[in-house]
Amino acid sequence: MAVGANENISKIPPSYLFRDIGNKVLEFTKNNPDKAANLIRLGIGDATLPLASCIVEAGKALLDEMSTEEGFAGYVDEAGISDVRQAVSETIYNGKVAADHIFISTGSKEDSGSIGDVFSTDTPVYVTDPVYPVYVNTNIMYGRSNIRLMECNAENNFMPAIPESTESSLIWLCNPNNPTGQTMTTAELTAWIDYANKTGSIILYDAAYKSYIRDPELTTNIFDIDGAQDCVIEFQSFSKSHSFTGVRVAWVAFGDGVKIINSKGEESKVRDIWNGRQAYRTNGVSRPLQAMALKALSEEGMKSSREQTDYYLENAKIIREGFTKLGMDYIGGDNSPYIWVKTPKGMSSWEWFDYLLENCAVVCTPGAGFGGCGEGYFRLSAFGKKENVIEAMNRISGLSL
Ligand code: MLT
Repeated sequence: MAVGANENISKIPPSYLFRDIGNKVLEFTKNNPDKAANLIRLGIGDATLPLASCIVEAGKALLDEMSTEEGFAGYVDEAGISDVRQAVSETIYNGKVAADHIFISTGSKEDSGSIGDVFSTDTPVYVTDPVYPVYVNTNIMYGRSNIRLMECNAENNFMPAIPESTESSLIWLCNPNNPTGQTMTTAELTAWIDYANKTGSIILYDAAYKSYIRDPELTTNIFDIDGAQDCVIEFQSFSKSHSFTGVRVAWVAFGDGVKIINSKGEESKVRDIWNGRQAYRTNGVSRPLQAMALKALSEEGMKSSREQTDYYLENAKIIREGFTKLGMDYIGGDNSPYIWVKTPKGMSSWEWFDYLLENCAVVCTPGAGFGGCGEGYFRLSAFGKKENVIEAMNRISGLSL
């Protein structure tokens, strides 16, 4: 006798792309100790620059304060202390999303996985292919089977086509895109917002990489676009903008008019439902982390973010120039830390992953790990140290491709 399993969980792949890569790399380093020392990791998008000192000082000061009788405080508000929510509202959204529509959390991965709590399981879910695997597999865990892939390939410039369906759906858009590094123009985003409002759909907008947008023609605040308040829920994080991958602070921002309807025909604001959900699911983000987040949003913190993202964008430029010289097809890397490259000589994504690891000791991410349309591509991340990125491109240039 045993407890019954959640059958939906057993439908997801037993492993996770970045774990598979980690295991392969571990095996490689064990078998090739000579090459291990020179390994260059441009696979997972993990920050390599240290935290800005002003942010670290803010965290330390809060801990010091908590070591005193007067300064000690226990539980935090599960939605995030109001100062941080207010700062996100002003600094990131120019006041266009109210502080009480912003919920601080420990990561966009968990937020994007958990948002599925709110919606009916028979709602169709549109995702791009290739896609960040979290959107797909967390929906499968909820028992959603109506997942519709929007193919993105060289023919459509890796840009998803707006569906013809008139059903109310959930639509995942990641912009700048992970993994392709492609960015949507304001006109393209506007078309998605119009479609969502026409069909009563909700756009789940992953903007984790928006601090990499440099082209002044591109939209950095989706809530500036007419109609976004009625259909957009945005996911954002300090991970890729302030080196918080190991610190963990993120948020969800709800458009004021985003609503769901129950079987009795009663409508509710998604923000209100999420507010209730958070009360039962979390005690929020620790006070020291919130102090660090607040500093990250200060003028000094935003300046350091700009310097860090500029640094990674310079790496991306080095990667792009390298592939241009090699005559290899790629996109991304101009307003994004990811470069999406066609594998040479018709190699499969994993063949190329192994080849690159063995011949150059460089780790990439095989495109097939992001879905069927990713086959024949690989992703390089610009989140390395500049000297390592230069060295990686030198090694790749030395291959006889
Ligand atoms: C990636 O490399 O795609 C991201 O780092 C994954 C993540 O942020 O969870």
